[in-house]
Amino acid sequence: MRTRNLKLLLTTVPGIEELVVREIELKFGNVVQNYRKVGITELGGRIIVESSSKELLKKLTELHTIERAFLVIQEGEIGKKIENLIEVLDKLDLSWLDDYVTNFTTLAVKSVRAGEHEYTSLDIARELGKRIVEYFKTKGKSIVINLDNPDIVVEFDVIENMYILGLELIRRSLRERKYRVFHHEASINPILAYAMNMLLEYDINKEHVIADPMCGSGTIVIEGCFHYKKSIFIGADIDYRNVRGAMKNVQKAGVDNRVVLLAADARTLSKYVRDVDGIVTNPPYGIRMTSLEKLEKLYREFIREISQVLPSGARAVIITPRRGLMNSALERVKDLYVEKQITVEQGGMLSTIFVLRKS
Ligand SMILES: C[S@@+](CC[C@H](N)C(=O)[O-])C[C@H]1O[C@@H](n2cnc3c(N)ncnc32)[C@H](O)[C@@H]1O
Repeated sequence: MRTRNLKLLLTTVPGIEELVVREIELKFGNVVQNYRKVGITELGGRIIVESSSKELLKKLTELHTIERAFLVIQEGEIGKKIENLIEVLDKLDLSWLDDYVTNFTTLAVKSVRAGEHEYTSLDIARELGKRIVEYFKTKGKSIVINLDNPDIVVEFDVIENMYILGLELIRRSLRERKYRVFHHEASINPILAYAMNMLLEYDINKEHVIADPMCGSGTIVIEGCFHYKKSIFIGADIDYRNVRGAMKNVQKAGVDNRVVLLAADARTLSKYVRDVDGIVTNPPYGIRMTSLEKLEKLYREFIREISQVLPSGARAVIITPRRGLMNSALERVKDLYVEKQITVEQGGMLSTIFVLRKS
């Protein structure tokens, strides 16, 4: 099913933009005509995807690596001064809104701004809101601006020297997963958990056994089940309260028939896990565990265990902000090499995803 080329602005975790494109291609085939990251900084978390696939537009909520999605109406360059903003807003063609607005439509204008500008995102939203109200007044329609529960959301983002005017396509953040009935204080962003599973790069049509030996509330195993629909997952945590909580989430997600959960120590992984095809995990990084030596020892011991349980050629995907600790733990094992390192941003903190391979 083909239609005219549409431009979509998709937001994700800064650092995994390429994986969004890969997920689209895995799910919908070769439908991305073009894509580019938005902004001049390396970490952006925004990409513009051009596609003519109606299927993609209809099924955006099936993507696990995106947070929000917008239809791009217009984009261009913008300066730092308030008069540059006014000039761009005054020139905007708002007639596209005619297709979406009736006398009863409520509308919100939102804005995200990144970079150095003389104006704020509030200035942007206010100025654009005023112009939209004026535009409809001249057409005899009185539009209601409602920020709480609007029918449509117009977004005007300014990222460094670029602006993007868009229409929000999904009304909720896709980061919020309904299966999270048990909350872990250090739970991973589910978008990242899904992306990490993708980084194993295993065949989604085959059966694998994949383990998260420090599973917390089970986010990685659940997202793994969504990606590898034929695979079995083992989740373990040293704290049985987390295991119980993870079980609740796993049940709520409807994947309990493919997940085995147990209370166990990752430092003795080889005692309870054999024949595992891959590992995806998010070890503690020291918020509660204050002693750096303890953490260093933990990293050393679980890396040693990983090298013991993985068969040759298999991968382990590990995320941590403790890059130095990982590197020094890796120096001690001879058969695990770093295939890829990806820097991502999680809650304002930079973390590294290590993709390891057993030689
Ligand atoms: C960063 S949290 C994982 C969060 C998880 N990805 C989630 O989304 O909920 C790290 C987890 O490792 C567990 N842990 C710490 N030391 C461990 C060990 N030696 N063996 C197994 N689990 C351990 C902690 O109890 C904690 O739940």
